[in-house]
Amino acid sequence: MHRSGIREVFDLASTIPGVIHLEMGEPSFETPAHIRRAAASAAEEGYTKYTPNAGIPELREAVVRKVRERNGIDASVDQVVVTPGGVAALYGALLALCDPGDEVLISDPAWPNYRMIAALQHLRVRRFPLVPEHGMAPRAELVEPAIGERTKVLVLNSPGNPTGQVTDVAALRELIDLATAYGLWVVSDEVYDELVFEGEVAPSAGAYDPRGRVVTVFSFSKTYAMTGWRVGYAVAPPEVASLLIKAQEPITACVNGPAQRAALAALDGPQACVVAMRDAYRARRDEVVRRLDAVGVPHVEPRGAFYVWIDVSGSGLGGAEFAQRLLTELGVAVAPGSAFGAGGRDFVRISLAAAPGDLYEGVERLLRGIVEWGC
Ligand SMILES: Cc1ncc(COP(=O)(O)O)c(C=O)c1O
Repeated sequence: MHRSGIREVFDLASTIPGVIHLEMGEPSFETPAHIRRAAASAAEEGYTKYTPNAGIPELREAVVRKVRERNGIDASVDQVVVTPGGVAALYGALLALCDPGDEVLISDPAWPNYRMIAALQHLRVRRFPLVPEHGMAPRAELVEPAIGERTKVLVLNSPGNPTGQVTDVAALRELIDLATAYGLWVVSDEVYDELVFEGEVAPSAGAYDPRGRVVTVFSFSKTYAMTGWRVGYAVAPPEVASLLIKAQEPITACVNGPAQRAALAALDGPQACVVAMRDAYRARRDEVVRRLDAVGVPHVEPRGAFYVWIDVSGSGLGGAEFAQRLLTELGVAVAPGSAFGAGGRDFVRISLAAAPGDLYEGVERLLRGIVEWGC
């Protein structure tokens, strides 16, 4: 298994003092106080034992309400599995649905962890392209040619990392129809579901799944600035959910109790914090896009998540070499596009989740790099 190219940059950047970090998807915000307090009270009350493999019942019930109201998914409690972050839900879903040697469809570009999970589970990866003509959103006609004999799962991700694309309902329906026609499962990574710049939530694949082929993955990490708490969840057809629950015992057993109580407070508490963070990310998006447009640097304008996918070919360098020089010469860490797939070779990804001062200074230095090295 390859290491994540994002983590490699992070590790190198951590050895250089004063670097501006734009490479990781780590919110600049603290976890809201009422959520932290819920965990503190749980620990104080001695809520410190093992919890059920599938998650504490109150949290699973709150998830049922949340996905019904916000995502349009009609699920029962037995379809909800609380996991240590979205990444564990993705790992469990592929483990439940595939055998070694099976194939999974992953976009190019895509978040590197999908490929890493596939490698650990001895799955083969087939890539399908995301193209600018469709705003970097997946399209059934570009997925179909990648389907092979042993393909089991189509992985989708909207709002998407690294491009910030949001897949619309028509494209989602076509993708689910395609998967159904070929007998595939869909694993839809929606950890950025509420981080959209128009409206309040991205369309969810699970809401357009009449035949029970979709496993949807969500997380508390991004929506509530809870990356370190490690709480996510999957909503799956009952037969898949029961496999996920069973598999959780030998892998992680359960999610820690106080963190689940914090997650419960996040869902049941006031949602103004989500709105405030989303507004802040939108304002940062607008400002970064304005600066890129002002000097004509091509990029994908994100509609959700918190990343900007920037074409740095104007520098005369590929994304990996550009990222290397930007770090060592100008002190800014960005994720090289090649970490997300061959289609990212001319790109870098920056994170809007960094604090605004760092973000804008980092973007200025990045633009300086493109101009100076390109001459
Ligand atoms: C697309 C995508 N999916 C899933 C995750 C996993 O998030 P977590 O495990 O913190 O819920 C991330 C985190 O960066 C991500 O970008």
